[in-house]
Amino acid sequence: MAVNVYAPHRAKILNINRQTEIDYTFTLEADVKPLNGQFLEVSVPRVGECPISVSDFGEGYLELTIRRVGKVTNFIHDLKVGDSLFIRGPYGKGFPLAAFLGKRLIIAAGGTGLAPVKSVINNFCRNPGDIDKLDLLAGFKTPADVLFKAELQEWSKKFNVQVTVDKGDSSWSGRVGLITNLVKELTIENTDNTRVIIVGPPLMMKFTALEFINKSIPEKNIWFSFERKMCCGIGKCGHCKIDNTYVCLEGPVINYVQAKRLID
Ligand SMILES: Cc1cc2nc3c(=O)[nH]c(=O)nc-3n(C[C@H](O)[C@H](O)[C@H](O)COP(=O)(O)OP(=O)(O)OC[C@H]3O[C@@H](n4cnc5c(N)ncnc54)[C@H](O)[C@@H]3O)c2cc1C
Ligand code: FES
Repeated sequence: MAVNVYAPHRAKILNINRQTEIDYTFTLEADVKPLNGQFLEVSVPRVGECPISVSDFGEGYLELTIRRVGKVTNFIHDLKVGDSLFIRGPYGKGFPLAAFLGKRLIIAAGGTGLAPVKSVINNFCRNPGDIDKLDLLAGFKTPADVLFKAELQEWSKKFNVQVTVDKGDSSWSGRVGLITNLVKELTIENTDNTRVIIVGPPLMMKFTALEFINKSIPEKNIWFSFERKMCCGIGKCGHCKIDNTYVCLEGPVINYVQAKRLID
């Protein structure tokens, strides 16, 4: 019998962590073994399906951090612990962890862009000897939008973690301003030994990459992760196509040498 590649698996919700008003992290019971940076197609019967990055995973579970923006994600946010989601995947290319070994890794993440890199940071948090140094530059719109607060504190014990918001308030004593300002302030002595990951909205990725290039980071040492609109996730429907690139198959993680031609 032919295999139905669109058939999803039921995954029970084990925990829901409300990060912000509109961003919830769902822990699902699942035996899926994704690569860091891959995504799943997540569905609710009779409602719809959407691509969501795996924000973390371990033995028998995985985590999805989902922003409420529309039909499917609104429905998912109303689910409770013990309810189920349906998943298929993992799909796409993840981050090339081997290329980061022994290097200085700088991660620039805007908003929910922190979700796909969370498992990368946790991996190096467990194995800090695998890299030379890790800098995380995280940007959010306001203090109320800051994701993974507990993890940011934990990561800052081992790594250079800097958080900035576009607009502060009376509760915020941290940085205010664009992530590109944080890049400008970084001292990068050995650019050949430095690797960069940039994840966030398209304009943020474009201008952050240009800032790193200003600092003489070679283009081949920079990776983007794209949140292009997708449908099938497996190269069949063409929804994600930019020129001749199927982002669902060749991405979502794409090296800047190729990715710079894909930014609208
Ligand atoms: C590879 C990949 C990984 C993703 N990872 C995550 C993740 O970890 N967490 C998360 O919250 N979201 C993620 N997204 C975005 C997520 O897929 C969309 O937010 C979701 O499809 C919206 O579905 P909906 O039915 O709730 O909204 P809809 O009712 O379909 O749309 C609501 C609004 O969101 C806009 N929208 C829909 N899809 C996208 C998209 N892909 N990018 C930008 N705007 C969109 C629509 O234009 C509309 O304005 C990812 C997308 C991709 C392609
Ligand atoms: S999402 Fe269908 S071809 Fe990429």
